[in-house]
Amino acid sequence: MNKFKPNTQIIGKKSLFLPTCHSTNDEAQQIIQKNENFHGTVIMADFQENGRGQRGNSWESLAGQNLLFSLAIDTSFLNVSQQFYLSKITSLAVYDAVQSLGFSEISIKWPNDILIDKKKIGGILIENNISGKNLKSSVIGIGINVWQENLVNGTSLVLINKIICPSILNLAEKICEFFENYFIKLKESKDFEIINQLYFNRLLGYQEILSFRVKHETFNAKIINVEESGLLMLDIGGIHKLFDIKEISFEL
Ligand code: BTN
Repeated sequence: MNKFKPNTQIIGKKSLFLPTCHSTNDEAQQIIQKNENFHGTVIMADFQENGRGQRGNSWESLAGQNLLFSLAIDTSFLNVSQQFYLSKITSLAVYDAVQSLGFSEISIKWPNDILIDKKKIGGILIENNISGKNLKSSVIGIGINVWQENLVNGTSLVLINKIICPSILNLAEKICEFFENYFIKLKESKDFEIINQLYFNRLLGYQEILSFRVKHETFNAKIINVEESGLLMLDIGGIHKLFDIKEISFEL
């Protein structure tokens, strides 16, 4: 019996559960290639043999303990230059989902890590298929640490609060519901301004001094913008500089 029942029109109405796979993002890509009606399909797995993270890192997770989730969506309405909006709405949806389950002290760490009490509980890996100037389709990959207690990096929902820690399926349903609302804002109402405002409100270090590291140098700076391209604009003692994800890290 399928117990996964998000309260949505499209997102998550089709779903596939795998005991194991290489990466749920790869499974979602295959569904996009094979099936015209892929839009809104969710793939979840108990275990990934080759889970992938940002910057070419691997994403490790013990079997059955965490959310390993990918969503296949039609993004042909988006220009390539607007692709970072997918990152914004996904991090907002995960933020809202975790908050709706009773957690607080949540923040988004640029570009799209989800933190509680400044510790990472999950990450997002978006992979786009492009056709000319527009996107064609996208895979939204989300990994959230839920029940795993021994983690090399970051934390998990159970370590933050055992009493309100949700089931993995419940968390996935909430993510689908919030994601669908943001997706409609992006596609139909073109509410770019609202999305930007919400993202900046929840962005760790926005207009606040934080410590960053570039190569071996640590310095204090304020985030003053995230460009449409997704690049991070810092104010370092009055000087404005742009950074991409590969060259800068946060010192939290
Ligand atoms: C990050 O590095 O923060 C992003 C992690 C994204 C992990 C998820 S787990 C489900 C999906 N499948 C993958 O191989 N990666 C993403």
